[in-house]
Amino acid sequence: MSFTTQLSLIVLLCFSLLTLIRSESSSLSGREKSTYLSPAILFANYDKMIAEFKIYVYAAPKALSPTFTSSPESMFYSNLIRSEFVTRNAEEAHLFFVPFAPDTSTRALARLVREIRQSFPYWNRSLGADHFFISRAGIDYSSDRNVLELKKNSVQISCFPTKSGNFVPHKDITFPPPVDSPIELPHAPENRTTTFLGYMKLNKDDKSTWNFIDELVDDQDFLIESEPSDHKSNINTSKYCIFLYNSDMNCFVEAIAQGCVPVIIADRPIQDLPLMDVIRWSEIAVVISTRGGVKGMKLVLSEISEDRLEKMKESAVVASKNLVWNAAPEPYDAFYMVMYQLWLRRHTIRYTRREFV
Ligand SMILES: *[C@@H]1O[C@H](CO)[C@@H](O)[C@H](O)[C@H]1NC(C)=O
Ligand SMILES: *[C@@H]1O[C@H](CO)[C@@H](O)[C@H](O)[C@H]1NC(C)=O
Ligand SMILES: *[C@@H]1O[C@H](CO)[C@@H](O)[C@H](O)[C@H]1NC(C)=O
Repeated sequence: MSFTTQLSLIVLLCFSLLTLIRSESSSLSGREKSTYLSPAILFANYDKMIAEFKIYVYAAPKALSPTFTSSPESMFYSNLIRSEFVTRNAEEAHLFFVPFAPDTSTRALARLVREIRQSFPYWNRSLGADHFFISRAGIDYSSDRNVLELKKNSVQISCFPTKSGNFVPHKDITFPPPVDSPIELPHAPENRTTTFLGYMKLNKDDKSTWNFIDELVDDQDFLIESEPSDHKSNINTSKYCIFLYNSDMNCFVEAIAQGCVPVIIADRPIQDLPLMDVIRWSEIAVVISTRGGVKGMKLVLSEISEDRLEKMKESAVVASKNLVWNAAPEPYDAFYMVMYQLWLRRHTIRYTRREFV
């Protein structure tokens, strides 16, 4: 083959590759491109997950048999064990699920892992790195080797927001928060007129002497509610919906779906947002610390242009379908997106114990 033929072949190849890439990305809307971190990969990889993902579920000992109370845990658990993802053939499994009840003691947990380690070859193979478990509040460090490996190597799925220290970034996952009542997902953000700059639902336990909250309550630009109320129509009154990180996030998904841009008040970096490695949260939510007080927060918000706000609302509407739990899972909903995050973690890096020191 002459040099020019080779060259033209290479050019042809590059050209067809380019058109392939172009046609793939042009099938994605602009909204999807800004909402997801890598949309082209997400959609192709999601289909692969549906077709191939296999999970082996260990039998839970009777005493530790899981009965989950909060809805994301129970919905995920019951949908998972009834799903096509579960296999009886551990040899074909990508991941291994270690189910146990939410109130399982550290001692009982250690015993459970030890039994799995002794009865099956899979734990030793990766020291638990291809294993996952559900723990609402997350598990703490322990001096027991079994629990430590579970904590450091296995993928933990807990409820958002997690307690500081109980979440290991890059590995752990959080469930999208539940919604109080079914929400209808919009197709486009509503064009609504807002009376307030921000809305916040205050919880009893937030009623601290925290200056920031007092300041907010006194500010006429904000609607702060402390009594249980119809927060759905109140979300509607405001441009932004304010959440205190590590507090009740129950109307978080409602706010996003209704185009009320979430403002999360947090004084430390947030690493445990749901679908953290799928959704481009910086295009949907604003994170503000309390340092500048309410005045500082208003300054940050005033710097967000109307144009940017519109774009954030549009991305929020796209993302809302990924955050909603359905009794029977629907494609790309909270159940399947948590599954997708597990699928992303099937090739895991393990923490190894030093055997000889
Ligand atoms: C896994 O390794 C431990 C020692 O760390 C050993 O006691 C156990 O028997 C091994 N499990 C299997 C199934 O070989
Ligand atoms: C929203 O309403 C305003 C006036 O009420 C109008 O100027 C604007 O074009 C509307 N935007 C959309 C997207 O419908
Ligand atoms: C929010 O307001 C819009 C009109 O601005 C209305 O159509 C919609 O029903 C309201 N939603 C709720 C939940 O009240």
